[in-house]
Amino acid sequence: MWNSISEYIIRNYGQAHKIVEVGVGRFPLVAHNLEEHLKFNIIMTDIKPSHRMIIQDDICHPDLKIYKDAELIYSIRPPEEIQTCLEIISNTVGSDLIIKPFSTDSMNIGRNMKLTSYKKAVFYKITFK
Ligand SMILES: C[S@@+](CC[C@H](N)C(=O)[O-])C[C@H]1O[C@@H](n2cnc3c(N)ncnc32)[C@H](O)[C@@H]1O
Repeated sequence: MWNSISEYIIRNYGQAHKIVEVGVGRFPLVAHNLEEHLKFNIIMTDIKPSHRMIIQDDICHPDLKIYKDAELIYSIRPPEEIQTCLEIISNTVGSDLIIKPFSTDSMNIGRNMKLTSYKKAVFYKITFK
Protein backbone atom coordinates (compact mmCIF):
# COMPACT_ATOMS: atom_id res chain seq x y z
CA MET A 1 0.00 0.00 0.00
CA TRP A 2 2.78 2.47 0.87
CA ASN A 3 4.47 1.80 -2.44
CA SER A 4 1.16 2.51 -4.19
CA ILE A 5 0.77 5.89 -2.45
CA SER A 6 4.38 6.77 -3.22
CA GLU A 7 3.90 5.77 -6.86
CA TYR A 8 0.70 7.81 -7.12
CA ILE A 9 2.48 10.92 -5.84
CA ILE A 10 5.50 10.37 -8.09
CA ARG A 11 3.25 9.96 -11.14
CA ASN A 12 1.08 12.97 -10.35
CA TYR A 13 3.58 15.35 -8.77
CA GLY A 14 6.75 14.42 -10.59
CA GLN A 15 7.05 18.01 -11.81
CA ALA A 16 6.53 19.53 -8.36
CA HIS A 17 9.13 21.64 -6.60
CA LYS A 18 7.90 21.36 -3.04
CA ILE A 19 5.97 18.65 -1.18
CA VAL A 20 5.30 18.63 2.57
CA GLU A 21 4.37 15.66 4.75
CA VAL A 22 2.59 16.65 7.97
CA GLY A 23 2.62 14.48 11.12
CA VAL A 24 5.40 12.17 9.98
CA GLY A 25 5.83 10.61 13.42
CA ARG A 26 8.23 7.69 13.19
CA PHE A 27 7.09 6.68 9.71
CA PRO A 28 9.14 8.52 7.06
CA LEU A 29 8.88 5.63 4.59
CA VAL A 30 6.71 7.41 2.01
CA ALA A 31 8.82 10.59 2.19
CA HIS A 32 11.98 8.53 1.69
CA ASN A 33 10.41 6.64 -1.23
CA LEU A 34 9.55 9.97 -2.84
CA GLU A 35 13.01 11.38 -2.29
CA GLU A 36 14.50 8.40 -4.12
CA HIS A 37 12.51 9.33 -7.23
CA LEU A 38 12.07 13.09 -7.08
CA LYS A 39 14.85 15.61 -7.34
CA PHE A 40 14.25 17.37 -4.03
CA ASN A 41 13.86 16.64 -0.34
CA ILE A 42 10.38 16.17 1.07
CA ILE A 43 9.74 18.65 3.89
CA MET A 44 8.64 16.66 6.94
CA THR A 45 6.85 18.25 9.89
CA ASP A 46 5.41 17.11 13.19
CA ILE A 47 4.23 18.82 16.36
CA LYS A 48 6.63 16.50 18.21
CA PRO A 49 9.48 15.62 15.86
CA SER A 50 11.04 12.21 16.38
CA HIS A 51 14.12 13.08 14.35
CA ARG A 52 16.25 16.15 13.64
CA MET A 53 15.26 16.06 9.94
CA ILE A 54 11.63 16.71 10.92
CA ILE A 55 10.59 20.34 11.37
CA GLN A 56 8.63 21.14 14.52
CA ASP A 57 5.32 22.76 13.58
CA ASP A 58 1.72 22.64 14.76
CA ILE A 59 -0.42 22.37 11.65
CA CYS A 60 -3.26 24.09 13.51
CA HIS A 61 -1.01 27.14 14.16
CA PRO A 62 1.21 26.77 11.15
CA ASP A 63 4.30 28.66 10.17
CA LEU A 64 3.10 29.54 6.67
CA LYS A 65 6.55 29.79 5.13
CA ILE A 66 7.02 26.02 5.60
CA TYR A 67 4.03 25.32 3.34
CA LYS A 68 4.11 28.30 0.97
CA ASP A 69 4.46 27.29 -2.70
CA ALA A 70 4.00 23.59 -1.99
CA GLU A 71 2.22 21.79 -4.80
CA LEU A 72 1.17 19.00 -2.44
CA ILE A 73 0.68 18.58 1.30
CA TYR A 74 -0.03 15.05 2.50
CA SER A 75 -0.52 13.33 5.79
CA ILE A 76 -0.59 9.66 6.71
CA ARG A 77 -2.83 8.53 9.55
CA PRO A 78 -3.16 12.00 11.09
CA PRO A 79 -5.29 12.48 14.20
CA GLU A 80 -8.86 13.25 13.16
CA GLU A 81 -8.69 16.61 14.93
CA ILE A 82 -6.07 17.97 12.52
CA GLN A 83 -7.95 17.07 9.34
CA THR A 84 -9.58 20.50 9.23
CA CYS A 85 -6.23 22.22 9.87
CA LEU A 86 -4.77 20.32 6.91
CA GLU A 87 -7.62 21.46 4.72
CA ILE A 88 -7.20 25.09 5.83
CA ILE A 89 -3.46 25.20 5.20
CA SER A 90 -3.83 23.57 1.77
CA ASN A 91 -6.52 26.02 0.85
CA THR A 92 -4.41 28.92 2.14
CA VAL A 93 -1.29 28.06 0.14
CA GLY A 94 -3.18 26.61 -2.85
CA SER A 95 -1.67 23.15 -2.66
CA ASP A 96 -3.37 19.83 -3.26
CA LEU A 97 -4.01 17.72 -0.18
CA ILE A 98 -3.85 13.97 0.32
CA ILE A 99 -4.92 12.37 3.58
CA LYS A 100 -4.50 8.66 4.19
CA PRO A 101 -6.58 8.12 7.35
CA PHE A 102 -6.65 5.14 9.66
CA SER A 103 -9.24 2.76 8.23
CA THR A 104 -11.35 3.31 11.36
CA ASP A 105 -11.28 7.12 11.18
CA SER A 106 -14.11 9.17 9.81
CA MET A 107 -13.37 12.11 7.58
CA ASN A 108 -14.72 15.34 9.02
CA ILE A 109 -13.87 17.62 6.17
CA GLY A 110 -14.38 18.68 2.77
CA ARG A 111 -17.24 18.23 0.42
CA ASN A 112 -14.47 18.53 -2.14
CA MET A 113 -12.44 15.72 -0.62
CA LYS A 114 -12.58 12.86 -3.07
CA LEU A 115 -12.05 9.23 -2.15
CA THR A 116 -9.32 8.08 -4.51
CA SER A 117 -7.85 4.67 -5.09
CA TYR A 118 -4.65 3.77 -6.83
CA LYS A 119 -3.49 0.17 -6.97
CA LYS A 120 -3.42 -1.00 -3.32
CA ALA A 121 -3.94 2.44 -1.79
CA VAL A 122 -7.16 4.24 -0.89
CA PHE A 123 -6.95 7.83 0.31
CA TYR A 124 -8.70 11.19 0.25
CA LYS A 125 -7.65 14.00 -2.00
CA ILE A 126 -8.55 17.64 -2.57
CA THR A 127 -7.31 19.48 -5.61
CA PHE A 128 -7.25 23.21 -4.90
CA LYS A 129 -5.54 24.49 -8.04
C1 LIG B 1 -1.04 8.53 14.54
S1 LIG B 1 0.49 9.38 14.33
C2 LIG B 1 0.88 8.98 12.62
C3 LIG B 1 2.34 9.07 12.35
C4 LIG B 1 2.76 8.58 10.98
N1 LIG B 1 2.32 9.48 9.94
C5 LIG B 1 2.28 7.18 10.73
O1 LIG B 1 1.45 6.99 9.82
O2 LIG B 1 2.74 6.26 11.43
C6 LIG B 1 -0.01 11.09 14.21
C7 LIG B 1 1.14 12.07 14.14
O3 LIG B 1 0.60 13.39 14.02
C8 LIG B 1 1.34 14.27 14.83
N2 LIG B 1 0.51 15.43 15.17
C9 LIG B 1 -0.51 15.48 16.05
N3 LIG B 1 -1.02 16.71 16.10
C10 LIG B 1 -0.31 17.47 15.24
C11 LIG B 1 -0.35 18.84 14.87
N4 LIG B 1 -1.25 19.68 15.40
N5 LIG B 1 0.52 19.28 13.94
C12 LIG B 1 1.44 18.44 13.40
N6 LIG B 1 1.53 17.12 13.73
C13 LIG B 1 0.67 16.65 14.63
C14 LIG B 1 1.72 13.43 16.05
O4 LIG B 1 2.82 13.96 16.78
C15 LIG B 1 2.01 12.08 15.40
O5 LIG B 1 3.37 11.95 15.04
